[in-house]
Amino acid sequence: MLKSNFKIPENFRIKIPGDKSVSHRSVLFSSLSEGVSEITGFLEAEDPINTMKSFSKLGVDFQKKGIGNYIVNSPGKFHLKSPKEELDFGNGGTGIRLSAGLLSGLDKINTILTGDASLKKRPMKRIIEPLKLMEAQIDSINSDDKVPLKITGKKLKPISYFSKLSSAQVKSCLMLGAISSDVSLEYEEEELSRDHTENMLKFLGGKILFEKPTKFKIEPPFIFNGAKFKVPGDISSAAFFIVFGLLAEKGNLLIENVGLNPARTGILKILREMGGKIIEENIQEECGEIIGDLRIFPSELKKIEITKDLIPSIIDEIPILAIAGLFSKNGFEIRNAEDLRAKESDRIHSMVKNLKSIGVEVKEHQDGYEFEEVKSITSNLIESFMDHRIAMSFLVLKNLTKCELSIDDDTWIDTSFPDFKEIVSKLNS
Ligand code: S3P
Repeated sequence: MLKSNFKIPENFRIKIPGDKSVSHRSVLFSSLSEGVSEITGFLEAEDPINTMKSFSKLGVDFQKKGIGNYIVNSPGKFHLKSPKEELDFGNGGTGIRLSAGLLSGLDKINTILTGDASLKKRPMKRIIEPLKLMEAQIDSINSDDKVPLKITGKKLKPISYFSKLSSAQVKSCLMLGAISSDVSLEYEEEELSRDHTENMLKFLGGKILFEKPTKFKIEPPFIFNGAKFKVPGDISSAAFFIVFGLLAEKGNLLIENVGLNPARTGILKILREMGGKIIEENIQEECGEIIGDLRIFPSELKKIEITKDLIPSIIDEIPILAIAGLFSKNGFEIRNAEDLRAKESDRIHSMVKNLKSIGVEVKEHQDGYEFEEVKSITSNLIESFMDHRIAMSFLVLKNLTKCELSIDDDTWIDTSFPDFKEIVSKLNS
């Protein structure tokens, strides 16, 4: 199998930037809350900043106090105002889908939500359909179930909804619609998707009753006052460095202050099962989320079976897991993950195309891909497909192998992790 000749210093410390999912939610919940909130650890990247800019157009004031630190002054959900211009969420699927729910439930607030070329290709039917069951007035302007979306906010209807798609974006969209409208919602999903919205609602004192982890009911009143939101480091960003640390020839890493929400730690479970030595330390709870430090040691990896129930908890980490698979005994296989085709790019196509271009014999399936043990790769131009995680995954591969891989456009990394290349270069020195 492929060998890396990458060396890292002993006890190399990395501080990972804020969690993207929690950063978006901190903007949404502080906007819904009346009075002054404080956000610390906010991810200073394009996607969450676009969500923040959108809510400032609705009358919420965000004052930057330092890196990742904002004081938010909101008139509260009953006093937000219709923006004069379109709300542009850029590349951010989470920003637009969660905001669409929230805005649908705000009486008399009229908005148009748009985004970049990648976001304009992504499916919105998954939120439009259930929001319409709540009697939301949301329409895709081009009648194609895609962005731009036109929303006329109104009081929504309480519903009971079962989602076959285990998507935190769909779940959170409906929850935020119910929360802004002050109506109840009963929600069930097939597998547990990330539960940051549930955690933040609980943290603010909202009522949520669980029948089981995948089925709950939220009940009004949802009237919140300003609060202190602490955003942990993003495990999806840490994943690139976890793979660096496991595949390094020598040295070890300490990744500090990482969010370890159990619905997000599938990556740790899988990499450990593949043979990775990962130790959790300093575990604490903040704002309803578990956080801790991760120590990573060089390890020999092997192929394992990745089961369907784990897919939602690794959905953003699959590209970098596949890169780890290039260094694994017996290769790599991912299945039951068709929703990868609806991410920032079609992440089955983007990975298969790029892997083939560097000489890996990949078999593509509708719901995933597989390859046998890889002996070597060849240099080529990697296409980022407007997708930050594709660009970062292949940059990790480039550094691990010193193979001449050039990325066509790595500016997409700024949507989630602007400091990525700087940390990699420190790791290299
Ligand atoms: C997210 C949920 C996931 C994930 C996305 C962030 C969230 O999407 O891929 O990057 O913050 O709710 P789905 O829940 O639609 O799979």
